[in-house]
Amino acid sequence: MIVARTIAEVRATRHAEPGHSWGLVPTMGYLHEGHLSLVRTAREANDRVVVSVYVNPTQFAPDEDLDTYPRDLERDLQLLEEAGVDLVFTPTDEIMYPPGFQTTVTVNEITRLLEGASRPTHFQGVTTVVAKLFNIVEPDRAYFGQKDAQQTVVLRRMVRDLNMNLELVVCPIVREEDGLALSSRNARLTPEQRDAAPVLHRALTAARDAIAAGERSGNALRALMRSTIAAEPLATLDYVSAADPHTLEEVTGVGDEVLLSLAVFFGDVRLIDNMPVRKQ
Ligand code: PAJ
Repeated sequence: MIVARTIAEVRATRHAEPGHSWGLVPTMGYLHEGHLSLVRTAREANDRVVVSVYVNPTQFAPDEDLDTYPRDLERDLQLLEEAGVDLVFTPTDEIMYPPGFQTTVTVNEITRLLEGASRPTHFQGVTTVVAKLFNIVEPDRAYFGQKDAQQTVVLRRMVRDLNMNLELVVCPIVREEDGLALSSRNARLTPEQRDAAPVLHRALTAARDAIAAGERSGNALRALMRSTIAAEPLATLDYVSAADPHTLEEVTGVGDEVLLSLAVFFGDVRLIDNMPVRKQ
């Protein structure tokens, strides 16, 4: 496994063997089974797999958890080596954002809702860094988790709108046995908060079960998720949503598909989760 710090090393490795297909898995490190499931999916479909490990400062607002975001590069590299990764890109901030950097990629409407409403500068940081990674690696396929549902919708829009020549693959959410979606941020929960955190998944499954039982009102589904979260004293709700999975607009009545999603604080740790539901 090659560990590259510089863009030149990535490009040299990428172009050393013409004709090979490359899969890219962008991450911010502190890897868990969720990340590794993307790596395994990429491993199956590509000759070569490259993983980026970079905590991208531009997608964090000044009051967010950039400084306390968990990091352990040595452990990450060991896990990636075991997973059969060919190339790891671990750039510094100076390499990604050299002095004078002033170009950004902005996806407009769908970044103003949900996560974007709570984190107005977040998606511009994501789209800019992912566009840069695409330009640096030139992957045939890039892998993202359904865990960050809006991120996948925003990146799909970017790829289409800017004619990026790659296939974007979305992989299912990996969860703990009690339903909590794996996240690097789970490491920052106290034991009590960790015990309470499956309430996100419980709220989503309650809404999914209500749909299965015939509920069609968006307001009723949002109220059900809200009351499930409210019953957990350690949880503070940021938002709940029952939205169209393509436009991300809140639905009044549930059609064939709906994306249930929510964001919840435990102290200063903000967790997100979602469940796409299809009417049978
Ligand atoms: P990060 O939070 O490290 O996540 C990297 C990838 O792993 C994302 O595509 C995310 O959706 C996926 N992932 C995280 N938890 C998952 C889980 N429990 N199940 C399945 N997939 C999961 O998302 C980012 O980094 C950044 O925004 C990035 C795209 C790297 C740009 O900086």
